[in-house]
Amino acid sequence: MGDEAARTQPEVHHNYGPHTVLKLAALNHALDVFSPIARSVVRNGQFDRSVYLDLFGGCGVTRIPELGDFVAGSPVLAANAKTPFDELLIVEKNKRYHEALEQRLSAVGAPKMRALHGDVNSLAEQLASYISERRSIVFACVDPEGMEIFWRTMEAVSRPSPATDFFVNLTCGAERALAEATSGGKSLKAVERMMGESLGEVLTNGAGKIAAQYVAKIKEVLGKQLGEASLIHDGSGTPRYRLLLYARETQSGSPWERGYADIHRRLSDLTVEDARGALNIVKGRAIDGIG
Ligand SMILES: C[S@@+](CC[C@H](N)C(=O)[O-])C[C@H]1O[C@@H](n2cnc3c(N)ncnc32)[C@H](O)[C@@H]1O
Repeated sequence: MGDEAARTQPEVHHNYGPHTVLKLAALNHALDVFSPIARSVVRNGQFDRSVYLDLFGGCGVTRIPELGDFVAGSPVLAANAKTPFDELLIVEKNKRYHEALEQRLSAVGAPKMRALHGDVNSLAEQLASYISERRSIVFACVDPEGMEIFWRTMEAVSRPSPATDFFVNLTCGAERALAEATSGGKSLKAVERMMGESLGEVLTNGAGKIAAQYVAKIKEVLGKQLGEASLIHDGSGTPRYRLLLYARETQSGSPWERGYADIHRRLSDLTVEDARGALNIVKGRAIDGIG
């Protein structure tokens, strides 16, 4: 899928380490869990449409420099979901990335698609009013590079539909930024915007632990009680981010709870070595003298 998407403007891509493959595999698995259930509740009339919402869409292709491989980015995975979404709603701030993404998604023949160019934190209310036009079941992917997501944006996109699940990449850099902000450094604004709280509140409410506090807010403020977080390390063993996958509990429980839990169980066993191995297999390369 990545090679296919990279045929359009191959020079436009992100460069990330092989640990990115773990994130994309987890996202793909989550889409496989979510999209068939979303389709069935649209079919039975509970909702009007299923929407894939990507707040940091990127350009659709990531290159893994150490291997030279192209892999499909989040919006391309969603456009190719086994059970298609009715609509894709994607935001990207970088003009070049946005243009490449639009071309790539048109080439895939994506479902009804709106790729917006702009800053997601400025577009949040526009996204919210679009979602609230019809009864929507939503899968929201929040994959910034750092701390670019403001808490008020999370609240705005969550507000229109209680049936919104969140897949969030929460950077480990946030803990460093908090330490820096606490000692009077320049990350104060970034911390306060991401958390939607003053530094004093972050320190009191979360006892200085950003990740735990963020998860608590997803559960309590956004009302997504069901979920887990998995820590992802890069090839040198450094923790890079947590992948959060959270859903609300419905009257009948949550039909995808087991599927989501399975993703975290698998992530807890997987390392960057597995990601490299999987790419070797997918790209047809010989492994350890085999083949
Ligand atoms: C980690 S990349 C996203 C990768 C993508 N999810 C994928 O799987 O290929 C983050 C993207 O967010 C974009 N970005 C950064 N700040 C943004 C903002 N405030 N609003 C919208 N996009 C932003 C960057 O240009 C970059 O393309």
